[in-house]
Amino acid sequence: MYTEQIDLKVISEDQRKHALDRAGEIIRSGGLVAFPTETVYGLGADGMNAEACARIYEAKGRPSDNPLILHIAGMAQVDEIAREVSPEARKVMDAFWPGPLTVILPKQACVPDRTTGGLDTVAIRMPSHPDAREFILRSRRIIAAPSANASGKPSPTLARHVYEDMKGRIPMILDGGPVGIGIESTIVDMTGDCPVILRPGYMSREEIAEVTGQVRIDPAIAGRTMSKDVVAKAPGMKYRHYAPKGQMILVEGDVSQVVQKINELAAQRQAEGYRVGIIGTDETVPCYQGGIVKSIGSREHPETVAASLYRILREMDASGAEYIYSESFFREEMGDAIMNRMLKAAGYRVITCGR
Ligand code: TXA
Ligand code: MG
Repeated sequence: MYTEQIDLKVISEDQRKHALDRAGEIIRSGGLVAFPTETVYGLGADGMNAEACARIYEAKGRPSDNPLILHIAGMAQVDEIAREVSPEARKVMDAFWPGPLTVILPKQACVPDRTTGGLDTVAIRMPSHPDAREFILRSRRIIAAPSANASGKPSPTLARHVYEDMKGRIPMILDGGPVGIGIESTIVDMTGDCPVILRPGYMSREEIAEVTGQVRIDPAIAGRTMSKDVVAKAPGMKYRHYAPKGQMILVEGDVSQVVQKINELAAQRQAEGYRVGIIGTDETVPCYQGGIVKSIGSREHPETVAASLYRILREMDASGAEYIYSESFFREEMGDAIMNRMLKAAGYRVITCGR
């Protein structure tokens, strides 16, 4: 299959309309279109068409028990796919939509099992990215979309990443340039008495609590290790995810000690003949002595780290790094979402210095 890439930033308004109309035709005929959102690129299909959703799983190599998020462009679409929408849930949607928050609600019968992995709940998000909104509106469908990476790879933050993973597998990629946020939406389960965060994301627990008063975090994702005893409520959280090919290790502690430790570890591995990658920050990059050194952003500005994280992991793969030593951050300074993704990328391997 030929994969057409359309750069929405450089074409005329007429060409843009034409491209989005064609994208809509592909969706209505059961095909797949990758599109930008404010968080990461999505791989879209008609969410009410079970066969179209099956194609998403096939293209990504995704396990079939891992449900998809349904993307909408207007509030009226919520009641088409969800039931028992509590006033609390409406409050959350009003406060955060359009934006990087996904809400779990009981599903309507019309939502195929293929979309929800057989669950009786449905994940819904209204993205704020103008291209995403226009794409959904012009398709005249509710768009089921996971992140547009091959299963197990870091989520795509550039159209080029989608092309790397999906070329020959899907007919169209809409290129809206680099995404703004760079990590996925926060998933909050609104089916119970108290909202529960199933996946940390750009919207923090504190921001949600300002609206709902109380918020819990799914115990399966709260810790610093992969929990073996508690099953994650978002099926996707149990998979090895976001991971580069090389073995990644996080090094935590006082920054100057971390830099010293990473230099030591990198030198050892290089002496053994391995290609070594180092993930530092704008503040520390000049302090590294060897290996493939990249900055993930500034310690002072968490949003720069979120925006670069997945791209840096992909660049480490491209550089052929066999071991990747990365600086770590404290949740308090960088937030739950970034640390959750970094710990997963590192398979929960953490070295603590100075203790
Ligand atoms: O920012 C995002 O959310 C991006 C963009 C494209 O919107 N999408 C995204 O989708 O990250 P995906 O498929 O990579 O992750 C969806 C997550 C998975 O962990 C899945 O298990 C969970 O949402 N999920 C979907 N439906 C669910 C449900 N009914 N109950 C619990 N978890 C659900
Ligand atoms: Mg994903």
